[in-house]
Amino acid sequence: MSTDRFSSPVCSFPGWAAALALSAGILAACSSKSSAPPAPTAGGGAAAALTWHHDVRPIAEEKCQSCHTDGGFAPFSLKTYKTAFDNRGAIASAVENKSMPPWPPSAACNSYQHDRSLTDAQRAAIVAWARGDAAEGDPSMYVAPQNAPAPALRVDKSLAASAAYSPVESPDEYRCFVLDWDETTTKYVTGLRIKPGAVAEVHHAIVFQIAPADVAAVQALDEKDPALGYKCFGGTGVNTAGWIGGWAPGTAGGAFPEGSGIAVVPGSKIVVQMHYNTANAPPSPDKSTVELQLADSVKTRAAVVKWANPNWVRSHTMNIPAGDPDSTQSFAFAPAAFMGQVSDNILQNNAPFTIWTASLHMHARGVKGTLTITHADGTKECALEIDDWSFHWQGAYALKTPIVVKPGDTLGIECHFDNSGKRQPVVNGSPAPVGPVNWGETTEDEMCLGFFYATP
Ligand code: HEC
Repeated sequence: MSTDRFSSPVCSFPGWAAALALSAGILAACSSKSSAPPAPTAGGGAAAALTWHHDVRPIAEEKCQSCHTDGGFAPFSLKTYKTAFDNRGAIASAVENKSMPPWPPSAACNSYQHDRSLTDAQRAAIVAWARGDAAEGDPSMYVAPQNAPAPALRVDKSLAASAAYSPVESPDEYRCFVLDWDETTTKYVTGLRIKPGAVAEVHHAIVFQIAPADVAAVQALDEKDPALGYKCFGGTGVNTAGWIGGWAPGTAGGAFPEGSGIAVVPGSKIVVQMHYNTANAPPSPDKSTVELQLADSVKTRAAVVKWANPNWVRSHTMNIPAGDPDSTQSFAFAPAAFMGQVSDNILQNNAPFTIWTASLHMHARGVKGTLTITHADGTKECALEIDDWSFHWQGAYALKTPIVVKPGDTLGIECHFDNSGKRQPVVNGSPAPVGPVNWGETTEDEMCLGFFYATP
């Protein structure tokens, strides 16, 4: 937003400052037009200073329109003045209570590229506009946002299921589709984007590679389910599946860090896990496309390192007691001697590596999660913290400044779960009964899993 040169006819405040002041209820004091201080919701008064074209449209372009577009999966478009005006009441509440735009990472932990969160000034401007006159203003006053997200991706390969699939479970369905990989030499995925087919119902998608040794297992799952694809929830159903990338609305998709890529060997399969949500749209046939940028070679092979306590996975030691409203599960370990093993030998044992992107995965009972690097000298770096976990808003967050992990450093993950009656997953339309919970792939199970996109 660049409103600083704007002068209000009421007070000579820059637009953003007027908005801040108004939301704090103090601008009324400088109003020369009205002797009675205007209530923020009453319209008119100082809020008339803010217009769609000058103040709100640039923010909407930068922070809302990736989801709120025509036929998008958000319930209405925020591309035109009219749709914004028509929804101004809901906009004011959703922006004020910070439910919109969704941006789970805590700013206290780290800074990320393509941050969708609003600055205080942007939030105040939207709320003041929506609660005030919500005027259209003059299109010539429009100034393009400074941080328009425009990452470029060269599409070398597009993969999609053989036919469209219409979700049958409501409101949420997780479906895995097995896609053929026809390359005869090792290729490196250097960027990824998902083009949703039925935009309105695609909530998120995760792309996995299935190594040749696991292809039979995945095909068996696929064949057991008579419809196209197969039902899946926390992952592909195959533990060793390697994550290539994830996509959620608002994730522009794009190239991986310069010079790096993820190797896919001949004979592999790709599985794309689609999360459909039909709460706002009737189920309709979806055929989403996985778009990949490929290279024959890369300077640095990258690995997506999964981070969890191996005992949670193997021996089911992640005991979340029935009824516990705050069960904390944590795991910290200095992994230097095992980095080869956990990265398919892409990272080396006892050598530094760089973390570019961090993400967290829990299921429905997850409340809060953190990924932390504790350096050998005792200093800590926070890679990702999500304080108000929502299963519906998962993503991979690209650090503005990558973190270098050295031998002796510890990677830590901590997850908090609410296993009381309040946060049980909905299974077939009703909340699951309260009971002990452990690690697993289904809706009723939990996970506490970190992912790092890392290079040697
Ligand atoms: C990452 C995608 C995404 C972005 C970015 C986003 N929204 Fe939304 N928005 C949604 C979805 C999806 C819904 C439907 C409700 C839900 O799933 O939470 C929604 C719902 C809403 C609603 C209705 C809420 C209600 O309670 O009825 C409003 C208002 C809204 N968004 C405003 C905005 C504004 C304003 C911005 C930008 C400042 C924004 N959104 C950015 C995805 C997004």
